[in-house]
Amino acid sequence: MASHRLILLCPELRRFAETTRYNYHFFASGKNAMGVNLMMETHYVRLGGDEIVRKLADRFYDLMHLDPDFHGVRKLHSPDLTGSRNKLYWFLSGWLGGPPLYTDRFGHPALRRRHLPFAIGMIERDQWMACMERAMEDLGVEVTLKTELIAAFFKTADFMRNKTD
Ligand code: HEM
Repeated sequence: MASHRLILLCPELRRFAETTRYNYHFFASGKNAMGVNLMMETHYVRLGGDEIVRKLADRFYDLMHLDPDFHGVRKLHSPDLTGSRNKLYWFLSGWLGGPPLYTDRFGHPALRRRHLPFAIGMIERDQWMACMERAMEDLGVEVTLKTELIAAFFKTADFMRNKTD
């Protein structure tokens, strides 16, 4: 991880940062292998915040709707994608480390349970992933961040599988 993304703080400074109202959505804190306190910018901040998260959800569903490569996952969704766009945007905001817009509205996401009505195997997972990767490319997401997000998305997408192909 690039050093400019890590902020090492003495305990007093760290406590101060944690009490400011700005800290909550902008840093994830933890300890490194040496037990030193670290504060790291969240994916939400590195991506560019609310405006880009909204654009990512919209681009994702634009591509899903327009590109026949994603027909398999498109046909699982409602004809009107407005609800899906909003829910993905709200969910991603919190999932990336920003404001928890989805849980504020609906409580725990319980994503796997909410996906059970839709038959999801490896084909659907891979289409979803390809669509998200294209959306990130179209928005010009920086390559290191994109690689990290693809790995994180894959874990969640793979967890949604509920049928054997
Ligand atoms: C693995 C492949 C996936 C497929 C095929 C899939 C498909 C779907 C479908 C069909 C819906 C319902 C949309 C509607 O009502 O029209 C949905 C909802 C949703 N999906 Fe996915 N999804 C996948 C993976 C993911 C992943 C990886 C995430 C998050 C990173 C995600 C986040 C959501 C959210 C937040 C909702 C709204 C849930 C609700 O409140 O009802 N999905 N998805």
